[in-house]
Amino acid sequence: MISIVRARDYNDMSRKAANIISAQIILKPNCVLGLATGSTPIGAYQQLVEWYKKGDLDFSQVSSYNLDEYRGLSGDNPQSYRYFMNTNLFDHVNIDKANTHVPDGMAEDGEASCAAYDAAVAAAGYPDLQLLGIGNNGHIGFNEPDDHFSKGTHLVDLTESTIEANSRLFDSIDEVPRQAYSMGVQTIMFAKMILVIANGEKKAQAVHDMCFGPVAPSCPASILQLHPNTVLVADEEALSLCADELA
Ligand code: F6R
Repeated sequence: MISIVRARDYNDMSRKAANIISAQIILKPNCVLGLATGSTPIGAYQQLVEWYKKGDLDFSQVSSYNLDEYRGLSGDNPQSYRYFMNTNLFDHVNIDKANTHVPDGMAEDGEASCAAYDAAVAAAGYPDLQLLGIGNNGHIGFNEPDDHFSKGTHLVDLTESTIEANSRLFDSIDEVPRQAYSMGVQTIMFAKMILVIANGEKKAQAVHDMCFGPVAPSCPASILQLHPNTVLVADEEALSLCADELA
């Protein structure tokens, strides 16, 4: 079962999520965080930076593993997820960059690089807390709707829906990479706690299916119903199709 925390709006969702992440860091200063990119976590990252600057948080022993990276983008490309993480979080806190990990979008041998990423996440003991956004189509990481759940880190062909959703961050839709490396669903499920955040009505169907639909790879996030410790923090719009179930 997924525990649902209701937030009023994006800011409230972001603060609540940051509170949960910050509690994890306080309880276990050398914790492993699984991190996500995209629009949804930006507010939570800003809040964490603010608390760090106030002296309330210490990232010096934290390590992190990101979910995904576009294939063909290097870390200094402003559209890459490594760049996103640096500019939205890592550059502003005292995390040791050597302890931050993002799949290598430029890997010459993609398969070997994915296997090495899985081995590194496993050796780290898997995330204590995995932060997830959710795609309009129910994807987590870049695990798109499919006829099976994925396992380890792998190369993904992005769906038209995801390419279109992500095109808002590029000059034109043609510039959106068509492939990405993503942690697999199985690896995500190994995290000790999962924190999903969602806001806005575009996420309402995916949030409903994740929490209350059948557990099926047509909505990859639905597998989180089987995880022992998943919390969803979502705003009213994202929860708007769950009114009956939450009544
Ligand atoms: C990002 C990721 C994706 C996003 C999802 C939602 O690292 O893995 O699954 O979380 O596409 O994206 P936003 O937050 O931009 O709506």
